[in-house]
Amino acid sequence: MRDSYGREIHYLRVSLTDRCNFRCVYCMPETGVIFHPYAHHLTDQELVRVIGVMATLGFDRVRLTGGEPTVRPNLVEIVQAISAVPGIQEIAMTTNALRLEKIAEPLARAGMKRVNISIDTLDAERFTKITRVGKLEAVWRGILAAERAGLTPLKLNAVIVRGFNEGDIEDLARLTLDHAWDMRFIEMMPLGSIADFQIDSIVTAEEMKARVAAAFGELIPLQWNGHDPARPYRLPGGQGTLGFISSVSAPFCEGCDRVRLTSDGRLRLCLLRDDEVELLAPIRSGASDPELRELIAHGVHHKPWGHGLAENVIAETRIMSQIGG
Ligand code: 5AD
Ligand code: SF4
Repeated sequence: MRDSYGREIHYLRVSLTDRCNFRCVYCMPETGVIFHPYAHHLTDQELVRVIGVMATLGFDRVRLTGGEPTVRPNLVEIVQAISAVPGIQEIAMTTNALRLEKIAEPLARAGMKRVNISIDTLDAERFTKITRVGKLEAVWRGILAAERAGLTPLKLNAVIVRGFNEGDIEDLARLTLDHAWDMRFIEMMPLGSIADFQIDSIVTAEEMKARVAAAFGELIPLQWNGHDPARPYRLPGGQGTLGFISSVSAPFCEGCDRVRLTSDGRLRLCLLRDDEVELLAPIRSGASDPELRELIAHGVHHKPWGHGLAENVIAETRIMSQIGG
């Protein structure tokens, strides 16, 4: 369906949980995160029902996020149920890959098409520093398992944080020489209680691109599909692609095609704005499908144009792990 600015909104990101087995510095504060009680999470059934209603509004792509989506119980069954929703053409997931070695195969069999994996450095020590608890070795095995299971083309995401991993950009870019992977470098976005740290430590997409060009020579621009937030490039001789996501320095709100469903049952209309439509309460007080559909359609129609970072408007009600990127 179209929003009031004429954008075709058809992509739903579903946060399955606000819990995570990592604590990445760009996503969560070190301490003091309050998790939503499980009783306030949409149940599997409620979740699939909302997706079904949204499919009747033209939503056709679903991406599962978190927190970390693989810590949600019954993930494989959830994927199976979403696959069976008429109108849903593609299910993908954004994950830290820690659990993929175990579940990549079953997920692929259940109907998952692709995964995006967060990997911010190839140095084991810095990996643990940036994720606060993560082990690179296990994540690497997860990446290979995803590829074996056919969850491809694999996309790898690196959020670049000054003082942590700006020196890792070249090594990450080099992965695309030998692997047909899409490596994407993401500008850190400010959100919630850690916004000051995020603003102080941002590395712009321009700077990232300049670093890659200095190391490998001019990047080769590729055909852009018109809605991916990253314009694609290739290294000379590379098999995979590179992308730079400039959400802060050069926003791409005019091409936005998505809304987000949070694990506590709210429809978040813009990642970096606090406008949300409450769905959990109406669902639990017996709203019918047409009533839910009306609530959702009204919200999507009123999706805000874009974020207000240039005017110093920082969304405050959630941190990234409570939305899922
Ligand atoms: N800015 C940009 N991207 C972020 N992510 C998490 N926190 C931030 C942030 N502050 C991304 C991670 C992960 C996805 C879930 O969200 O790269 O891939
Ligand atoms: Fe967890 Fe992903 Fe946030 Fe890291 S970025 S803390 S892996 S949700």
